[in-house]
Amino acid sequence: MVLYVIFTSVCFGTSAKFLISVECQHAVGVIGRTTKISCSIKTTFGSDQKIIISAASATKRGETDPVFWFQNDVVKGDHRFKLASKNDPSLLLTDTAVSDEGQYDYTAVTNRGIIKDATFRISVKAKYNPPSISTWPVKIVEGGPADFYCNSSGGYPAGAIHWFDSTNTNWTMSATLEVTEREDQLLEMSSKLTFTSIDSSWEPIRCVVLNSKFVKEGESTIHLMRIDECPSLHPSSPHLSMGMVTLGSCTAAPEHPILLVNVFLWKIQLQFQ
Ligand SMILES: *[C@@H]1O[C@H](CO)[C@@H](O)[C@H](O)[C@H]1NC(C)=O
Ligand SMILES: *[C@@H]1O[C@H](CO)[C@@H](O)[C@H](O)[C@H]1NC(C)=O
Repeated sequence: MVLYVIFTSVCFGTSAKFLISVECQHAVGVIGRTTKISCSIKTTFGSDQKIIISAASATKRGETDPVFWFQNDVVKGDHRFKLASKNDPSLLLTDTAVSDEGQYDYTAVTNRGIIKDATFRISVKAKYNPPSISTWPVKIVEGGPADFYCNSSGGYPAGAIHWFDSTNTNWTMSATLEVTEREDQLLEMSSKLTFTSIDSSWEPIRCVVLNSKFVKEGESTIHLMRIDECPSLHPSSPHLSMGMVTLGSCTAAPEHPILLVNVFLWKIQLQFQ
């Protein structure tokens, strides 16, 4: 009688290893949403035998304690994880966060044997907010230097920001991208495009935000704000009356930015002489 019991348990333990396993698909979660980690049980015996999961646990690689475990209807660990059902080893993860990204080891105890060495991977993504675009200086001088900034945050993983002008010339090579991590681990991308000499015919300038798969997520355009006011001239000043004579067309064509800048610079020069 004793021998018989030992024989059956040994037999069950050995054969179960080859009979039952779990396969999970790579899960891509969206930040803040529920992620389903789809898993299924594979057996070499027929599907007539109903499989009931009595215990399960998932441990993130590199960590010692399971993030989630379930036994006798009690769920412990991270309460965002849930077993789909006692017949389905799939997991549901609510309120997905960047920190959930990684490889997991999965173990389950069923009425047909213990499942070990199952793994699944979670990667996460978040869409970037529409970009905001600005220039420095705020008012651009024709032919002068200008920096353009394009910022987009709240996305994950890191993507890219590309720059184009009105003729669709690609200016991305003149830009530098900085990616910083926010407190919630989502990213902020900030691209700075530097022109040493800006030509107003290039406007509007456009920045395009791309995700890590180089798919466009948003774009923004900016029209240049030019220095459009004639510098205040004081006719009583002898220096400036000279300026008025030479550059008298300033008042006649106040919308011409090049001329205005010249007047302005010349005025400064005169005052320092
Ligand atoms: C974009 O980011 C840069 C660098 O962090 C900052 O200097 C600039 O003010 C930001 N611009 C906008 C429109 O948020
Ligand atoms: C623009 O230039 C960047 C950097 O060289 C490149 O990766 C991107 O594919 C270009 N985009 C287009 C539409 O040509």
